[in-house]
Amino acid sequence: MTDLVAVIIPAGGSGERLGAKIPKALVQLAGKTLIEHAVAQMAPVASQIIVAAPAGYEEQFQQLLGSEVTVVTGGLTRTLSVKKALAHVDKGNEFILVHDAARALASTDLALRVIDSLRAGEKAVIPGLPVVDTIKRVDTDNYVTKTPTRSKLRAIQTPQGFARKVLIKAHSSADDVTDDAGLVEDRGVDVKVILGEDRALKITTMSDLEIAHKYLISESSNQIRVGIGTDAHAFSADPSRVMWLAGLLWPNEIGVDGHSDGDVAAHAICDALFSASGLGDLGSNFGTSDPKYSGASGSQLLAEALERVQAAGFSINNVAVQIVGNRPKIGPRRAEASTALSRALGGVPVSVSATTTDGLGFTGEGRGISAIATALLSYRAR
Ligand code: CTP
Ligand code: MG
Repeated sequence: MTDLVAVIIPAGGSGERLGAKIPKALVQLAGKTLIEHAVAQMAPVASQIIVAAPAGYEEQFQQLLGSEVTVVTGGLTRTLSVKKALAHVDKGNEFILVHDAARALASTDLALRVIDSLRAGEKAVIPGLPVVDTIKRVDTDNYVTKTPTRSKLRAIQTPQGFARKVLIKAHSSADDVTDDAGLVEDRGVDVKVILGEDRALKITTMSDLEIAHKYLISESSNQIRVGIGTDAHAFSADPSRVMWLAGLLWPNEIGVDGHSDGDVAAHAICDALFSASGLGDLGSNFGTSDPKYSGASGSQLLAEALERVQAAGFSINNVAVQIVGNRPKIGPRRAEASTALSRALGGVPVSVSATTTDGLGFTGEGRGISAIATALLSYRAR
């Protein structure tokens, strides 16, 4: 049985230095508030999360964070906010992490490393980074009184981890400190510094918010998703049925039966796009029962699919589609097909290939036509 961990996130500050008109924890960063980012990173390690909200914002916080999170009213200082949250920690938690909503991007991995160190027997564990600037102590007239050796200095971050009893005892004093380790140190407890991380930066000013945004953007550009889709239709017995394939009209070809224009290439691509973005499939998006889509052209469906994947935060890197069948012969119109499909998707590169199946199966027997498509998408944090 692993020891349970409570996470306290003080978010009761007003964020004066950031200068937004709302509390800092409610400021948006790539589509989510800072407090939502902080909770999302800590949730995987926490049995209990307690957030101290600015007075008057409790309900808004509760709605935003859901019923799993305990929201309490913050105090006049960070120390008081932590103290108020501490009163709500369940006794079953062996360890308590004290974090900051302002360090919204501190990672789950960092929290895990703090907890690992507690489990190894430390009573107080704090993340820190070596400092790059020389730090000087000055007196009230700004004269230097001391220059500590830089290599021995660390810039301290959160989440800071403590054995529950150690933290509760330390907070029983009335001191006001900028971090909780300060209280614990004063009581003679050994405080261990482990390596922090750049992304745990404290968001204080607008330029910090921009730096934080860059972390999310560079992460999201790595979030690529692949999808797959297929479709098949039988050639129609009705010789007047026209053939649409790959966004093109094919004169002198008999079309396929189907609810829409029967463009298997376009349909397979739509499915691949939905598959990559986790938005379901062709049927769940353009149900056969919806009259809006009966008779819809392949190009219209592609344009609609594009809109839906973009609305879900994705952009399309490229699409590939292979048409399987004896006819029509794709080769002479390959470039034209590629252009038509690409145009329907707002200019995304679409490669078109074709194959027969050596006389095998319904395509080889000339009874129908099918297509298989793949799509590569990138998720963009907004
Ligand atoms: N905090 C808190 N209660 C307070 C003051 C601060 O819970 N009375 C929290 C903040 O919400 C923040 C963390 O403590 O998550 C660190 O504080 P800081 O970065 O200074 O945030 P603010 O006090 O909101 O910002 P500022 O000092 O610029 O007003
Ligand atoms: Mg402050």
